[in-house]
Amino acid sequence: MPPTVEPSDNLTSLQSHILGEEARHPNATGEFSWIASAISLAGKAIGHKVRHARLQDVLGRAGASNVQGEEQQKLDVIANTILMRILGTRASIAVIASEEDEQPTILRRGSEGGKYCVLFDPLDGSSNLDVGVGVGTIFSILRNDPLIPDAEKTVCQRGLRQVAAGYILYGSSTIFVITTGNGVDMFVLDHSVGSFLLVDRGLKIPKSGKTYSVNEANSSTFPDGYRKYLEWAHASGYSTRYIGSMVADVHRTLLTGGVFMYPPTKKNPDGKLRLLYEANPMAMIVEQAGGLAYSGDHRTLDVEPAKLHQRVPVLLGSPDEVERVRSFL
Ligand code: AHG
Ligand code: MN
Ligand code: MN
Repeated sequence: MPPTVEPSDNLTSLQSHILGEEARHPNATGEFSWIASAISLAGKAIGHKVRHARLQDVLGRAGASNVQGEEQQKLDVIANTILMRILGTRASIAVIASEEDEQPTILRRGSEGGKYCVLFDPLDGSSNLDVGVGVGTIFSILRNDPLIPDAEKTVCQRGLRQVAAGYILYGSSTIFVITTGNGVDMFVLDHSVGSFLLVDRGLKIPKSGKTYSVNEANSSTFPDGYRKYLEWAHASGYSTRYIGSMVADVHRTLLTGGVFMYPPTKKNPDGKLRLLYEANPMAMIVEQAGGLAYSGDHRTLDVEPAKLHQRVPVLLGSPDEVERVRSFL
C-alpha cells in the first residue's frame, strides 16, 4: 500500500509560513525569514541538547556566573553559543544581545547591511533543567538604528518597536510560538520530518481564566495591592499554577487563560524578569493574542529601556484577569 497524503496531514512548515508572511509585506526582502529560520535551527539544536543533557552530562553548574550574578548552568552557556554561532552567520543582523553576555555583540554596521538586532534569553527557566521540567528560549527582533553608534543604546528600544517576538518551549513537545505583528502563530516540531509544523494560526488568549501564576513564597514582600489580590483570589475559587520557567508559565496562560505575574520583591525591588528579552517579547505575544501586559503602572511595551539587563515587574495574561489584578494595585 503506497503511503498516502491525507488532507489532515500538516505540511505547513515554519519556513513556508514565514515566506508566505513576507510575501504579504510589500517591502519585505526575505532577510527576516532568514533570521526566523536561524532561530528555528537554533531551537532544534538547543532542544536536542536539553533532551540529552543528562546523557551527555551537561547538566549542572558551569562553574561561572553571568552578568546577572546568577549561577550559569552549563546549558545556559551551550544554548548561548549555539545561538551566537547560528545568528552570527546571518548577513542581515547588526547586533546580538543575550541575557548571558554583559554587552551586546556588534556583527556588522548598518552600512554593511545590518538591518536587525536580535535579543534573546537563550535558556529560560534553567534552574528547572536538572529536574526535567519545561524550559525555553525567548527572542525579540528589533530594527537596527544605524545612526546610533552605541550597541547598548541601539537595542534599548521600547517593546512597541519590536518587529517580531516569540519563544521556543522545550516541554512535552517542542513548541515554537511567534508573532510578526499580525497575530500569534504556533508550530510543533515534528521529529519525523525535522520541521516545525503549523498547528495554530491567529491564536487568541481566553478572555478570562481562574488561574493565577506567581511565586507565592515572595508574597510577604509584594506591594500591598498584589497581596490584596491574592486574598481575593483565594476566596474566589482560583487555582494556582507555577512552574518557575517563564516560557512554560506564559505558554500555559496563553492557551488556558489566567494571569502570570512577577511582582516587585524585597530581593528584586524592580521585579526579577528582564525587560528586553523576557518581558517585552512575551508582552508582544500576549497583546497580539488579545491579552494585556503591564510593568507597574505602565503597559510593558511602552516602558523606555535604560539598560540592556534592566528588570521590570511583569503582570500579563487574560484581559479580564489582568484588569482584576490592576484593580487591587
Ligand atoms: P532564567 O532561567 O533565564 O534566568 O529565567 C528564570 C526566570 C523565569 O524563567 C521564571 O519565571 C523566574 O525566573 C522564576 O523565578 P523564581 O524562581 O524567583 O520564582
Ligand atoms: Mn529567563
Ligand atoms: Mn536564561
